[in-house]
Amino acid sequence: MNSLERYQDFLPLSQIHPNLLLGEGDTPFLRLETLMEEFDLPDTFAKNEIFNPTASFKDRGTVTAVHAAKASGIERIGTVSTGNMGISTAAYGARAGMKTFVFIKKDTSIEKLFSAGVHGPILLRIDGDYGKLWHESFRIGKDHGIYFMNSTDAFRIEGYKVIGFEIFSQLSSERPTYIFAPVSSGGHLIGLMKAYRELQQQGLVHHIPTFVGVQAQGCSPIAQAFAAGMLKYERVDKTETVAQSITNPDPPGGNILLKMIREHEGIIMDVTDEEILTAQRIIAEREGIFCLPASATALAGLLKLQKKQKFDPQDRIILVITGSGVKNIKVLDKSRMKIHDASLSELSKTMASLTE
Ligand SMILES: Cc1ncc(COP(=O)(O)O)c(C=O)c1O
Repeated sequence: MNSLERYQDFLPLSQIHPNLLLGEGDTPFLRLETLMEEFDLPDTFAKNEIFNPTASFKDRGTVTAVHAAKASGIERIGTVSTGNMGISTAAYGARAGMKTFVFIKKDTSIEKLFSAGVHGPILLRIDGDYGKLWHESFRIGKDHGIYFMNSTDAFRIEGYKVIGFEIFSQLSSERPTYIFAPVSSGGHLIGLMKAYRELQQQGLVHHIPTFVGVQAQGCSPIAQAFAAGMLKYERVDKTETVAQSITNPDPPGGNILLKMIREHEGIIMDVTDEEILTAQRIIAEREGIFCLPASATALAGLLKLQKKQKFDPQDRIILVITGSGVKNIKVLDKSRMKIHDASLSELSKTMASLTE
């Protein structure tokens, strides 16, 4: 039984079609022993969403949205994306045999652009304000009969809940005390929180964990509103960060997220590019997980928060690792990698010098 079938009672899907699935879900849940020792952390785990079919958590939401589209007889789907959601929608659209339109943000990495293009969608690389594009897509969708399954689409959020359910079961019912996740438009964290609310309604958990949403300082409208105690965010005009995947200047889920975070005493914080790149390197070098800078914000947030507050030894911390670092190679600090060029004929000599 796959993950969608296991949690079907919590989802608005009357049927799950094998021919719309790509093997999403049931992603690894890893104890980060080395990090725990090095940074004096309580039990800390990575929920590794890189293991989804298109190497990001977006597949969780795309699979449910595509099911909903099929059930309603919709033939054309689309999305507005910084990259990952475009790749995911293009792949699931191809699998479902649907005409798929992908509007991708101009500053996306070449790896993301081509990973979307390979599935054969109608791919538009768009120069302009991403927040406005999000709204514009719905108008275009109405004119052209395209269901734009964007970041805060209701069916997408339902799919993100499954990540929360899996965390719940992979922890063998012990409750997590903190869940850290990157935030851009807000859909992902809303889905995770909704999962725990529903588990609580069913009497399966007594306490909702502390959710910590992390934004990049170069695009942090929700974190800024949270820090100022505001109920509503203000859109930002410029986005400048290495964490390109999480650069929505006008996050559609921002105000709902602020409300939910307040209700459950969570936190929305931001981290600098330097903190992000350091975290990306640490989790790659110490734990073997190569994630996008956007995903590394979860660890960057944890290490930053640890400087302000002490965690209890009984705490259990989960980092949701949302996407693969292979999708943006350019941001890496190559000067840290030693690549030894060697010829086969001289290999023994080279090895001798390296193992001295
Ligand atoms: C890798 C990655 N992590 C996190 C997010 C944030 O998700 P959301 O926009 O639902 O807040 C995104 C969004 O594109 C992403 O690509």
